[in-house]
Amino acid sequence: MAKTNQVVVPGTWYIRCSFQSLVALLVTVLVIGAVYLTGKSEQLLEDPETGKISNDSLSACNLFSGKWVFDNKSYPLYKEQECTFMSDQLACQKFGRKDLSYQHWRWQPHHCDLPRFNATALLERLRNKRLVFVGDSLNRGQWVSMVCLVEAAIPSGFKSIHDNGSLITFKAMEYNATIEYYWAPLLVESNSDDPVNHRLPDRIVRAHSIEKHARHWTDADILVFNSYLWWRRPHLKVLWGSFESSDGIYKEVKMRRSYEMALRTWSDWLEFHVNPNKTQLFFMSISPIHERAEEWGEAEGQNCYNEAEPIWKEGYRGKGTDPKMMRIVESTIDELKTRGSEVQLINITQLSEYRKEGHPSIYRKQWQPLTEEQASNPPSYADCIHWCLPGVPDVWNEFLYAYIFRWTIM
Ligand SMILES: *[C@@H]1O[C@H](CO)[C@@H](O)[C@H](O)[C@H]1NC(C)=O
Ligand SMILES: *[C@@H]1O[C@H](CO)[C@@H](O)[C@H](O)[C@H]1NC(C)=O
Ligand SMILES: *[C@@H]1O[C@H](CO)[C@@H](O)[C@H](O)[C@H]1NC(C)=O
Ligand SMILES: *[C@@H]1O[C@H](CO)[C@@H](O)[C@H](O)[C@H]1NC(C)=O
Ligand SMILES: *[C@@H]1O[C@H](CO)[C@@H](O)[C@H](O)[C@H]1NC(C)=O
Ligand SMILES: *[C@@H]1O[C@H](CO)[C@@H](O)[C@H](O)[C@H]1NC(C)=O
Ligand SMILES: *[C@@H]1O[C@H](CO)[C@@H](O)[C@H](O)[C@H]1NC(C)=O
Repeated sequence: MAKTNQVVVPGTWYIRCSFQSLVALLVTVLVIGAVYLTGKSEQLLEDPETGKISNDSLSACNLFSGKWVFDNKSYPLYKEQECTFMSDQLACQKFGRKDLSYQHWRWQPHHCDLPRFNATALLERLRNKRLVFVGDSLNRGQWVSMVCLVEAAIPSGFKSIHDNGSLITFKAMEYNATIEYYWAPLLVESNSDDPVNHRLPDRIVRAHSIEKHARHWTDADILVFNSYLWWRRPHLKVLWGSFESSDGIYKEVKMRRSYEMALRTWSDWLEFHVNPNKTQLFFMSISPIHERAEEWGEAEGQNCYNEAEPIWKEGYRGKGTDPKMMRIVESTIDELKTRGSEVQLINITQLSEYRKEGHPSIYRKQWQPLTEEQASNPPSYADCIHWCLPGVPDVWNEFLYAYIFRWTIM
């Protein structure tokens, strides 16, 4: 049975997704992160701050294998109300959330430590450079988190934000560094590309066209992509031809097949237009959702609303997470590597699966007034897709930070 979710995204972005319950058939053994971390270099985790090298023979350290530890001494890494550019969609405390424990969880890998996030070190690394996040509202949340993480290190008057339609740019002036977000929920062109009006009944993708978007970020120094939720419909219409011309060919294509086509277009673009010697490429894996409490053993009809603790069952995976789509991303990236461009997959799926309490739920700005029926039934309008800040995406950025510096060391 398909469930339709209408979620309002920060500012004016809207997601409208239909989630199919998909049967998870494949249990996988491929831990890409581990492979990269082991294959690459023994000194990967030099802490840029202390210069200390995590000596825990990294061949044994998979950053993604670990557990959440309550740590109200070091976390959160910034205060919600002190982040100048916080989004009302993610500011859960501001919108009435009383239980703030979601801000205090630290990810502890089993065999090593994540390097400590140092905003100044990152800004130095980004001097005269562009870091660009490209994708949907989850990627936008990660961008907001990144801006919050670095901006405290910059005095007011030395930072700015500029919103230009699909592209939003945060600038650290003294560093001539920008941290940007580009709206492209399906990466390739689609009829959902308008950053404001994209709530459309039929989703149409030009699975072979990416240039309209890509020309805005091809020369970036670090690119962070994501794309998943917007594909979650049984079928999508794929368009050969342009939206403007009348002789385009439209064909219904199964979701995974169109995802594969689009990622192929994306990887071809990277191969031919992005200089692998200059640009670091990252792809964020699936951000899990928590819309069905029966998946983690609670009452049917409930969701992330009122949840106060992570899920403790090791290896828990919700039905919204499609392993076949993970395989498609992995094989696209593997194949691109044979053509000389390396994309690091940052595998945040498993660690985020545990965090059923990390979503805004009802504590965020409602872009439309609630109906009486909704108001009397809070789970009906809870957002169990995005993440409160400070919170889970800060940890995703700690991973990104570790990867960015690892690259420099090599
Ligand atoms: C390196 O690891 C070994 C074994 O785990 C430990 O005894 C030693 O103290 C570590 N050294 C440093 C500098 O962390
Ligand atoms: C941190 O958490 C512990 C255990 O829950 C609690 O006793 C303590 O008061 C908390 N400290 C702060 C500063 O919130
Ligand atoms: C953060 O990094 C900067 C620049 O590398 C360094 O000068 C500073 O000491 C670091 N901060 C801390 C708290 O270690
Ligand atoms: C500022 O950064 C941009 C890249 O974002 C670069 O093209 C430009 O040359 C830099 N300006 C200076 C003065 O270095
Ligand atoms: C805003 O975007 C438009 C269209 O992409 C572009 O022509 C214009 O130069 C941009 N303006 C600024 C200030 O970046
Ligand atoms: C990247 O660097 C390698 C080795 O230095 C060089 O052979 C190659 O031509 C460079 N590629 C590009 C696109 O600059
Ligand atoms: C990520 O990690 C999970 C669990 O560790 C694994 O099942 C999955 O295959 C990995 N890869 C991707 C692309 O998410």
